[in-house]
Parts: sequence; C-alpha cells; structure tokens
Amino acid sequence: MKNAIREARALLDRLPRARLGFFPTPLHRLDRLSALLGVNLYIKRDDFTGMNLFGGNKVRKLEYLLGATAASGVKYAITYGATQSNHAMETAAACRRLGITPVLYLTAVVQPDAASLRANLLLDRVLGAEVHIVPIEPGETEADAEERSFRMGAARAEALNAAGQPCVDIPMGGASELGSVGFAAAMVELAEQLQELNGLRFSRIYHSTGTGGTMAGMHAGRALLGMDTAIVSVSASPKDKPSYLKKVYDLSAAVLDLLGSERRPDPAAMRLNLTQWHPGYEQPNEAATEAILMLAREEGLFVDPVYTGKALAGLLADVRSGEIAQGDTVLFWHTGGATALFAEPEILGGLCR
Ligand SMILES: Cc1ncc(COP(=O)(O)O)c(C=O)c1O
Repeated sequence: MKNAIREARALLDRLPRARLGFFPTPLHRLDRLSALLGVNLYIKRDDFTGMNLFGGNKVRKLEYLLGATAASGVKYAITYGATQSNHAMETAAACRRLGITPVLYLTAVVQPDAASLRANLLLDRVLGAEVHIVPIEPGETEADAEERSFRMGAARAEALNAAGQPCVDIPMGGASELGSVGFAAAMVELAEQLQELNGLRFSRIYHSTGTGGTMAGMHAGRALLGMDTAIVSVSASPKDKPSYLKKVYDLSAAVLDLLGSERRPDPAAMRLNLTQWHPGYEQPNEAATEAILMLAREEGLFVDPVYTGKALAGLLADVRSGEIAQGDTVLFWHTGGATALFAEPEILGGLCR
C-alpha cells in the first residue's frame, strides 16, 4: 500500500491546487454507536474540511476546480445548484478567499422567503454573491429549470468575458473530472490514515451521493490504490440506476485519465443505494430524522436532512437487515451539509416539530 500511496500522490501533485481547507480531516471511531449497533463504526469528518464553519465535500473539489484560476486572472466564477445548495455556498466562500466574484444561479426547488432568508441562501447573501433565483415555471420539471439556469449562466459568462472580465464556469456540484480529483485525493488521505492505524481496513464505505462527483472521485482513488473496500453511495435524489452508474463510471475513468493513470474503476464495487431519497430531493423522511437524532444523541454529532442524514439512514438500515454483518468494520464518510439544519421547515420535516 505504501508504494501505491506514493505513486498516487505523485500523480495528484502534478495538478494545480488552491489550498482552501484543512487536511487530513479527522478519522475516528464512534464508540457509543458502535456498541449500540454491534459493528465497528468509524467516521471520516469532512464536515471539518474548513474553510469556514461549515466544511463539507465541496471544499476538496474546489481546491482543484479553482487551483489554476487564481494565477490565470479569472475575475468571476459562475455556478449552479438548488437555492439551499451547499456547493453554491462553498463555491461563493472559496471565490471570496481567492479574490473572485461569485455568481450563483439557484433553482427554487424549495421556494425561499425573501423576507426571511435562511441557511445557505442567507450565507450566499452574507458572502455578497451575485444571486439569481430561477423559479420552476408552471409545466417545467426541476431538470427543465436547471437546464434553463445553465443557459442563463452561459449567457452571463459570455457577457462578462466580452466585457473583459474573465469568467470560469463551475459545473453543478463541482462534478467535473477536475473537481472529482478532490475525492481521489481524499481516498489517498484515507489510505494514509489507515496505515497509521496499523492497517485498519473497512469492508465498506457509506457516503451520500448527488451529482456523483464525490462517488466518481472515490472510485478513482480506490482504483489508484488497489483498495478492495466496497463503496455504498446512498442517493439523495431519485436516479435511473443504469444511466447514473454509467455516468459515474465514465467520470471516474476520466479522473484517472486526467491523472495519467491507466487503471480503471471497478464497476462491481459501485453500489448505488436508492432506498433512502424518498419522497424527493430536499424532502425529509422519518428514517433520516431518526438517523439525525441517533447520531446527535449518542455521539453529539450532526448530520443533515438532505444528504448525510439519508446516507446514515442507509447504513443503519443495512445494519438492521444484516447486510452489514455484526462485528464488521465500516466507515461513514460525513460529507458536511450542516447548514441544512437551519433551512426551511419543508426541508427539516419532523426535526422541528
Ligand atoms: C453535504 C453533501 N453531501 C453529499 C453531497 C453529494 O456530493 P456529490 O454531488 O459529489 O455527489 C453533497 C452535494 O451537494 C452535499 O452537499
């Protein structure tokens, strides 16, 4: 493993990286929850990536996405998401740190109350981002409105570039091969930590998946390192399984290409869990509420109702069904998102009743 880590680091070090977060993030055992569940449960604390109070997986992606921009004279960065998007807020924060003006096109999956801004949308305002709310028009699906937001962003980028204000476009969720490199690097970081823990080994990693960039990067890192850990990606939104897995496989392979590696991701290790997203993206359910309360009351830690609460609920369901055997050593990769705990009541559901 030591050689594989060294080789992977050498490939990663060739890419420009903006130092935004604090790494490695802590890796530790959840003693009380482990005892309660009868498994050996660890947590990787990407809620602590920095660069501000809220952390999360996007910081890893943004380090690579914005790695080359500071030196290239970029003045504006445009990105996309839902009105309560963690990615959009973290992008705005990263831009400010690098002296870039953030421009956000936010689809109103949950309609914000302009008189009482909350959570990420409030932070976007505090960060002084140029915010464009894109309502879902009658007859439009969420995806249609998102497509429209991409066209609006492209037009704004063209106008800025034409006005001599160089502009970079960052895809939703930071889910390009460059952004996903951040999670290949995260797997290398994890492998280094496992070495320090005398070769501790996880049978599975559980994490939340949305755009798929985190999942793609993890599988690229797994392939680089020759790891045999299965990765269970618990979806925060409905997906068509075959096309999503293909998209993530292709993105993961593109990450390996970008790094100059001939290795390929292992489709057999890509486990997409579609049992927890219901009733929809940013819509709460009882299992996630229970998972949030259990982690808070056993360990004093917070997961959120949109992403990490649903991922933890997926892990808990697999313990209960015996899919995770008693005594197994598993990792819950906390990808952040705590601000959703301060979002609209429609997002919080049973937590605020
Ligand atoms: C807290 C949190 N966890 C997980 C995810 C999913 O990451 P990805 O979009 O890379 O699949 C997101 C994405 O927005 C997120 O904000």
